[in-house]
Amino acid sequence: MKKWILALLMSLVLAGVCPMTAQAASGSDKLVAITFDDGPSKYTDGLLDELAERDVVVTFFMQGCNAQSYPDVVKKAYEAGHQIASHTYNHPQLTKLNNTKIQDQLTQTADILNNATGIIQEYMVRPPYGSVNERVLSQLNAPAILWSVDTLDWKSRDADAVYDHIVNDTKDGSIVLLHDLYDSSVVGALRGIDTLLEQGYELVTVDELLRRRGNDAADGTKYYSARGDTTLPGIAAPTVEAVGTPGGSMVTLTADPGTTIYYTTDGATPTSQSRVYGSPFLLEDGATVKAFAARNLNGARSRVTEIKPEYPHMEPPVITFIDGMAAITGTGELRYTLGGTLPTPSSPLYTQPIHMTPGTVLKALATQAGYTPSLPSALYYSTRGNLFTDVEPEDWFCEAADNAVSQELMLTENHAFYPESPATRRDVVTVLYGLAGCPESSSPVPFTDLQEDDPAYHAASWAIGQGILSGYADGTFRPDIAVTREQLAVMLCRAWNGSRDIRDTDKILGAFDDVDSLHNYARDAAAWAVREEIFDDMADKKLNPAGIVTRAQLAATALWYTASNTKPDGI
Ligand code: NI
Repeated sequence: MKKWILALLMSLVLAGVCPMTAQAASGSDKLVAITFDDGPSKYTDGLLDELAERDVVVTFFMQGCNAQSYPDVVKKAYEAGHQIASHTYNHPQLTKLNNTKIQDQLTQTADILNNATGIIQEYMVRPPYGSVNERVLSQLNAPAILWSVDTLDWKSRDADAVYDHIVNDTKDGSIVLLHDLYDSSVVGALRGIDTLLEQGYELVTVDELLRRRGNDAADGTKYYSARGDTTLPGIAAPTVEAVGTPGGSMVTLTADPGTTIYYTTDGATPTSQSRVYGSPFLLEDGATVKAFAARNLNGARSRVTEIKPEYPHMEPPVITFIDGMAAITGTGELRYTLGGTLPTPSSPLYTQPIHMTPGTVLKALATQAGYTPSLPSALYYSTRGNLFTDVEPEDWFCEAADNAVSQELMLTENHAFYPESPATRRDVVTVLYGLAGCPESSSPVPFTDLQEDDPAYHAASWAIGQGILSGYADGTFRPDIAVTREQLAVMLCRAWNGSRDIRDTDKILGAFDDVDSLHNYARDAAAWAVREEIFDDMADKKLNPAGIVTRAQLAATALWYTASNTKPDGI
């Protein structure tokens, strides 16, 4: 393991990391297990949705014959963290069956539940009618779960009566008997659950109720409730430690001893099918970790922890360049590359000024444990000897930008070319004036918004004198207005004598889908520009006349002109 990774992992810095969900209380001293018998039924799916909204878990003692009819509901209940348990295959009084038939009832049901949940496991048993004797108990190979609160919901079929039983009869440690066969049971149970939550009860599965009260849930033992003076803590949701690293963060999950952590990174709620946590992993920037810890998957799991790690960003380093030597300054560890690729934490560590040859790109970033690495800073030392922070050899406009700056047609600002910024009227006249050789203007035009000492003043005066474009009636030039594609076509056509060679306008423009959006004054110029392949980004059959020209595109037209002018015939 590289030293830096070790350093990151050992760091417990958690700057800016906050759980997005509140942690459920795990040390309540009022516990209750709500149980539903005899289902699943047509009411169970809706019940599960309501329980999920309340973020509570219950225990379902299912009949095998009904689980067989609703395998998806069994799976949904199981994946939601409820405890799945057995209520025999078809509800016989076990005391009246011989041992072989008891075993048939239990194994048949277990097989059906295993198939639905996808996991082979053992299930707690509730004997139908609560009817057990020593012989039956010896046959169960599981604890026999009875109840201390009987809502008599099967008898009353009345939600109010069910509610009253739950609220009046429940005590700490109660096991409450309900049946998810009746709408009235579901409605009364949900109202009762809301009241119990308000009263400070923590709703747990039977498995958790027994464990937290120190009962060992022994096979063949009857349990009616689980009162007790001591309450063990619930299963804590996993804690997430995340440390910023290039590309995301290294995530470490921690949970109670004896538990297994299941997690997702795609935003989905984790289930028993989710990845099992083994060792720290790289989480992409912007992704969310959701995880729960399980003592067992059948009713003994924590709430879900959900964390989207966010860290303060490092400041990008500053690159300065003097006489072929580049210096990088900034905080943290400064890593760099010279080949154009993004630096990583294993890239060379900057220690002293770097010699750069023309045509190379220096990229650097700052990293530090507990922070998101900075955005990369870049400096391209071009083949013509220009410096760019935002132009690289693989950019389509690299040659054009390099040419434009070398010819002093376009300027950089602190080595930034701003290739994607709009080309303005100032930019266009400056390029055309420069390409024309900066001739003296015989008749300077007074503008109210362009002073004589402005570098663009002479270019603007010249361009207006040449009829390339017009000023405005109010005496302004409006140098900072962005130029559209059709406006540029008109200006280039006038500047480069394209007007003398207008032909086939209708035929050329007919090939484009959006020709109707072209202004009439620009039709000939647009056709000329298409024919001369000045705009070469029209593969989609769109002229896009109102589209704004970028500085990169303006530089490309200047390069086109430079290249065309070297042809013997000119354009
Ligand atoms: Ni029953």
